Amino acid sequence: MAVDYTTEDGVAVITLNNPPVNGLGLATRSGIVAGLERAQRDPAVRAIVLTGAGKAFCGGADITEFNTPKATQEPTLGTVIKVLEASAKPVVAAVHSVAMGGGLELALGAHYRIAARGAQIALPEVKLGLLPGAGGTQRLPRAIGLEAALNMIVSGSTVPSEQFAGAGLFDEIVEADLMPAALAFARRVAAQPGPHPKVRERGIAHPNAAGFLQFARNSVAAAAKHFPAPHKCIDAIERGVLKGFDEGLAFERECFVALVQTPESRALRHAFFGERAAGKIADVPADTPLREIREVAVIGAGTMGGGIAMNFVNAGLPVTLVETTQQALDRGLATIRKNYDATVKKGRLSADAVDARMALIKPSLSYDDVRQADLIVEAVFEELGVKEQVFRRLDGIAKAGAILASNTSTLDLNRIAGFTQRPQDVVGLHFFSPANVMKLLEVVRGEHTAKDVLATVMKLAKKIKKTAVVAGVCDGFIGNRMIEQYIRQSLFMVEEGALPAQIDRAIEAFGFAMGPFRMSDLAGNDIGWAIRKRRRAEHPAFRYPTIADRLCELGRFGQKTGGGWYDYRPGERTAYPSQVVNDLIVAHRREAGHEAGHEARTLGDAEIVERLVYALVNEGAKLLDEGIAAKASDIDMVYLTGYGFPVWRGGPMLYADTVGLFNVERAIRGYAQAHNGDAWELAPGLAERAAQGQRFNP
Ligand SMILES: NC(=O)c1ccc[n+]([C@@H]2O[C@H](COP(=O)([O-])OP(=O)(O)OC[C@H]3O[C@@H](n4cnc5c(N)ncnc54)[C@H](O)[C@@H]3O)[C@@H](O)[C@H]2O)c1
Repeated sequence: MAVDYTTEDGVAVITLNNPPVNGLGLATRSGIVAGLERAQRDPAVRAIVLTGAGKAFCGGADITEFNTPKATQEPTLGTVIKVLEASAKPVVAAVHSVAMGGGLELALGAHYRIAARGAQIALPEVKLGLLPGAGGTQRLPRAIGLEAALNMIVSGSTVPSEQFAGAGLFDEIVEADLMPAALAFARRVAAQPGPHPKVRERGIAHPNAAGFLQFARNSVAAAAKHFPAPHKCIDAIERGVLKGFDEGLAFERECFVALVQTPESRALRHAFFGERAAGKIADVPADTPLREIREVAVIGAGTMGGGIAMNFVNAGLPVTLVETTQQALDRGLATIRKNYDATVKKGRLSADAVDARMALIKPSLSYDDVRQADLIVEAVFEELGVKEQVFRRLDGIAKAGAILASNTSTLDLNRIAGFTQRPQDVVGLHFFSPANVMKLLEVVRGEHTAKDVLATVMKLAKKIKKTAVVAGVCDGFIGNRMIEQYIRQSLFMVEEGALPAQIDRAIEAFGFAMGPFRMSDLAGNDIGWAIRKRRRAEHPAFRYPTIADRLCELGRFGQKTGGGWYDYRPGERTAYPSQVVNDLIVAHRREAGHEAGHEARTLGDAEIVERLVYALVNEGAKLLDEGIAAKASDIDMVYLTGYGFPVWRGGPMLYADTVGLFNVERAIRGYAQAHNGDAWELAPGLAERAAQGQRFNP
């Protein structure tokens, strides 16, 4: 039963009971209507209390019904609220824990509302590129005033119930038990003559509504640059202010229906569901028993190790940090302290909290100190020999059942696992730099990685607030394997006629946080150089443009050397186009053009964007073909959380779906024919889906 119905001494209690958050699925909506009708029929009932069982009053729409016919089947939430509002007997919403989205709209339809202290109140629809679609934009301003309501609706932010004291949303805020208070309240109002008040009948008083709405439009302009929803929220509120409740409500509906169809909302919903889906691994059941993680050890206190340790102590887990020399240990600790101090300066952490966190780190020069650790994360130099030494030692020392993780970016996790007698306990935890900041965590599943190890690290990832995505073993896993093809295309385009600044500008206009050349200058061009050397040794046929090598031969490694693809001035991070580099490119093109038999040409921005993005898409399709990535949304989550892919486009795979795979494939074939065909080996899975009119994402 999604809704319970009981009576208590003249009061009907309708309790939403659809765990986990009493989502407003079809059964819940029908159940509320049935309960209301039953209460009308029963002469013994004089008032109705509407509440939620368990952990919420109501968390809003039932996300399991999203994109199914049930989501729009009658009774819709709008209908439920109409029935509620029309009830001849007074309805009291007893709000506790959570009233969000449709849940708050439902409560706003009741005649009275009382709330437990600490209930989380929000209309978060804007975060999914939508607006509240069941009267929220009309009733909330009538309940709490234009300004407060508009701020809540355009930000989607959560406000605790007690902050509404005296604001017109709740008739009472209850400190003690909610239900006895709600029943008493219901009996009191039942004794009053009807009709009972409706929020829709209140006015919206504001001394200068037009001025405030204009101000609001200006304020959201930056945040709304790529998203239509915030402006639509304001439009709908405005309609209600100018034309009254009914016209406002009809317009809100119109806006909702239009927004659901926008690519921006699709992208945000895709990311919302993608995050949840990433946490589910097909062959690892949700009830897999977990290993307990109470103590962590991190081996190596360099760039990554320090950041990784911070994640765990931030979550309250003690970390033993192991290094080879006192000097390296001191340097690592100093960097951690410096990072925390920067956060204190920004006012986001107290000095005491920093001390508490530093106290959770136990620096050590001895592997003996990791004996008790439940999880050991290795972050030493990226050399198989060094990893081998470390894992053999850990194998000899770590307690039985400890999880042994490697942060390797490029090495074969199965080989690393093979250095131990317990490959089932070995997993990759590929953090991104800076590890204390970046949301993404690639969880690398080795051939023998045990299911409970995977389940445990996925849970732990949540605890340290990462978006974890599972990847199979291959060079580069999901993110870096794809980015290599993107970088390769960017270099081909430089050889063909584009300049780094043009390429960066084009892809940044598409929405990437940073183009490939600025990114490479930031990360250090020597990293790519090392990768290319290795590639050429391992796969001589794999063609890589050599222009980037010429740059590195000049010592232009990027920001850290004061010059890379761009020039940098001391103390600045601004990238200035470089004459030296442009001359180098022109000279190189002459050679390369001669070899390849073509002259430099002008590339349009559209071609630049297509080639960069489709290079990601094509490699992503191969990852799906090979089973390295389990689903397209996993790939999109990697790109949204780790690589600065524009959020409003939903990741490379969703973007390809939006363009249409037929069109993507046709473009790739065209580029393959025109230039550098060897960089465009079409993924079979892409060709198949295109032929069958399918998408990557369902
Ligand atoms: N830097 C990045 O952007 C990045 C991103 C993801 C993953 N990674 C991976 O993380 C790992 C570490 O990279 P990094 O950038 O932090 O390197 P780093 O050179 O900054 O740090 C490595 C640290 O390990 C220490 N070390 C070496 N051998 C050790 C041993 N036997 N026992 C204990 N400590 C030892 C070194 O003293 C050094 O402080 C590598 O596998 C790398 O591929 C790096």
